[in-house]
Amino acid sequence: MTDTTAPLRIAVLVGSTREGRFAPVVTNWLTAHLARRDDMTADFVDLAETQLPTALPAFGQDLPPGSAGLLAEVSPRLAAADAFIFVTPEYNHSFPASLKNAIDWHNEQWHGKPVAFVSYGGLSGGLRAVAHLRPVMAEVNAMTIRNTVSFHDAWSRFEESGAVKDPAADTAAKALLDQLAWWGHALRDAKAVRSYVA
Ligand SMILES: Cc1cc2nc3c(=O)[nH]c(=O)nc-3n(C[C@H](O)[C@H](O)[C@H](O)COP(=O)(O)O)c2cc1C
Repeated sequence: MTDTTAPLRIAVLVGSTREGRFAPVVTNWLTAHLARRDDMTADFVDLAETQLPTALPAFGQDLPPGSAGLLAEVSPRLAAADAFIFVTPEYNHSFPASLKNAIDWHNEQWHGKPVAFVSYGGLSGGLRAVAHLRPVMAEVNAMTIRNTVSFHDAWSRFEESGAVKDPAADTAAKALLDQLAWWGHALRDAKAVRSYVA
């Protein structure tokens, strides 16, 4: 029996695996927001630290031991999550291959769960990455939520301390987490009553 009052388990996927990446600045800021919530616990799945294999097996084929070991570090954590936040940069008008790879290695781990996006990049603030992620996540039976936070020219948006220069981003983060909580509870409660139909 699911405890409907238990904090939502949020898996935060950090999408960039690039050397010298900006991702930690955005992720640390998000971490501070998550730390203020008593209705959420966060598990940070940093794809740079838990690098997944890139060669998918043939249908029905067992995974080679090396791939199985790498997946075992990520898949159970996605399965345990009630909801997701993707921290994604924009690469060439879309989201990074590392994130697509993580999505493609999984399926039922995404089913019937809400996904929120925190994006960053150059002029578009990663919004094209988010636009591309929405139909991809729909295909794996996830529910992408409306509210987003995006940082255009991301490197100019943060103080040395890690705080954002424009408090509107903090307001947007709270709105994003509030909406993710609504969907997270709604879908977790629904699945406790009725199995998700994929
Ligand atoms: C391969 C590559 C492609 C990029 N393409 C875009 C782009 O299309 N639009 C954009 O706004 N920024 C683009 N950028 C800038 C990145 O969004 C920016 O450098 C961001 O910091 C990358 O995230 P990361 O540092 O965490 O890897 C690109 C960067 C890279 C490395």
